[in-house]
Amino acid sequence: MPANKKLLVLPGDGIGPEVMRQVRRVVDWFDKRRAVRFDIKEGLVGAASLDKHGVPITDAVMADALATDAVLFGAVGDPRWDNVAFDKKPERAILRLRKDMGLFANLRPATVFDELADASTLKREVIAGLDILILRELTGGVYFGEPRGVTTLPDGTKRGVDTQVYTTPEIERIARVGFELARKRRNKATSVEKANVMHTGVLWRETVTKLHAAEYKDVELNHMYADNCAMQLVRNPKQFDVIVTDNLFGDMLSDLASMLTGSLGMLPSASLGAPDATGRRRALYEPIHGTAPDIAGKDLANPLATLLSFAMLLRYSFDLADDAALIEQAAKSVLKRGLRTADIMQPGATKVSTTQMGEALLKELDTLAA
Ligand code: IPM
Ligand code: MG
Repeated sequence: MPANKKLLVLPGDGIGPEVMRQVRRVVDWFDKRRAVRFDIKEGLVGAASLDKHGVPITDAVMADALATDAVLFGAVGDPRWDNVAFDKKPERAILRLRKDMGLFANLRPATVFDELADASTLKREVIAGLDILILRELTGGVYFGEPRGVTTLPDGTKRGVDTQVYTTPEIERIARVGFELARKRRNKATSVEKANVMHTGVLWRETVTKLHAAEYKDVELNHMYADNCAMQLVRNPKQFDVIVTDNLFGDMLSDLASMLTGSLGMLPSASLGAPDATGRRRALYEPIHGTAPDIAGKDLANPLATLLSFAMLLRYSFDLADDAALIEQAAKSVLKRGLRTADIMQPGATKVSTTQMGEALLKELDTLAA
């Protein structure tokens, strides 16, 4: 008997708990109906943790995250903490998880479901069939670089500093993941920086070029400035396969790319660490969307991004490609049947709540597995 898979579920704030509730039902379905067995633990993060414990994430939850096989994360953030110091913000929870778990590789696929091609603000022909992957470096760059902070100068004015830092090993390891992923897709990688303005950009380009020449000549590589990349993503997104970029550019370009697909509510992501001696990688899976405080608690949110994050978890952490495909198939089927949460509602479709979407998915899974 294979050991049970350890799962840490962190629903977080806003719409996080209600979408996670539906995804938990799907997790339970897999536990009962398929070969895989889970040991599930839940924990508080973000404002939910601040309310109870006074910190965005406790050391105990952090220890659970380090001990588990995979983390399934909802979303963190709360307008009540808009004006407090960084270390008291709900967002600190996800930043600490990324940093302390060493999750340097963030995979953000932007795929268009054919059923939703008309929901994009771009023309159907530009985005139909789109399937690109943004690979964002997640533990370095300006998000963590020192020095950082705001100081008061002798004349009473203030000075704010953030530091963009990258070392060759940091660039190499993310580029390596990019080339490996490209090999499993359409074999094309675009490395994105601003080597025309930034020293880190120069080093980034140089390092990626060297690694490519030494080990990945079979992959088609090109380089692009980040501002041009933003423009090209809107002009002709299908020219890309894998985009490899730093933490801040990846943050911005992935938001841009997600909107090409018509809905932020559909996109999952995976954050992976380096494999250890046994091949095991620390990993966290989360939807791209945030907490959506305006619709939180109203049973309106789209659970599909978190559901598809669970599919990525099955694929990347547990090698369960068939189970992952089953989830993706179920999501496609409910869309094909015309069921839509409010964010992806289209004329002639049937509007459903978060709970109803969860129920429809369970039914679909029953049918597919029968
Ligand atoms: C993301 C988010 C986070 C980030 C925030 C919530 C800290 O925007 O995951 O893209 O900036 O990385
Ligand atoms: Mg972001």
